Amino acid sequence: MDTFQNILVRAHSGLRYVVLALILAAIVNAIIKKKSGTYSNGDRKLNLFAMISVHVQLLIGLVLYAISDKVNFAELFSSTVNRFYGVEHIFGMLLAVVLVTIAHAKSKKMEDANKKHRIIMLGYLFALIIIFATIPWPFRDLGGKWF
Ligand code: HEM
Repeated sequence: MDTFQNILVRAHSGLRYVVLALILAAIVNAIIKKKSGTYSNGDRKLNLFAMISVHVQLLIGLVLYAISDKVNFAELFSSTVNRFYGVEHIFGMLLAVVLVTIAHAKSKKMEDANKKHRIIMLGYLFALIIIFATIPWPFRDLGGKWF
């Protein structure tokens, strides 16, 4: 693995915790405030930063998809690792990114504060479940590390 790829993998790996923490914080915040009748600037920023963190992962992930030796189109289904990074990881994460982006966009257009919190809660929760399930955690033997 060359230095550039190594830097990107380490950044992508560590950023997972930022993504997980921000998405979780946004969900908990939406649950707490979903009947408050108010949607503050702080709520808006938290939901925005959570979405940005996911988009940053998407950008780094797309570069890794092009250069990583774990993505091998000639042998896409030949091993668990090739299938995971070549198919499952990218499609799972793309779905999560789409869910977060749609929930965020819809929350911006809605007038009702409680509805804004509700769409964030639902969209981000489904995304979090998918992200959790498609992270190559070390115990899954896919070559991923904790950091
Ligand atoms: C929220 C979104 C994402 C999260 C949390 C995430 C998380 C991770 C983690 C934890 C690893 C393992 C790093 C390690 O070796 O320790 C990884 C690897 C990888 N990810 Fe993602 N990822 C996300 C999105 C994406 C997307 C959208 C793509 C592709 C477009 C992608 C492509 C890759 C590739 C190719 C690797 C293997 C890199 C290598 O070891 O050479 N990721 N990802």
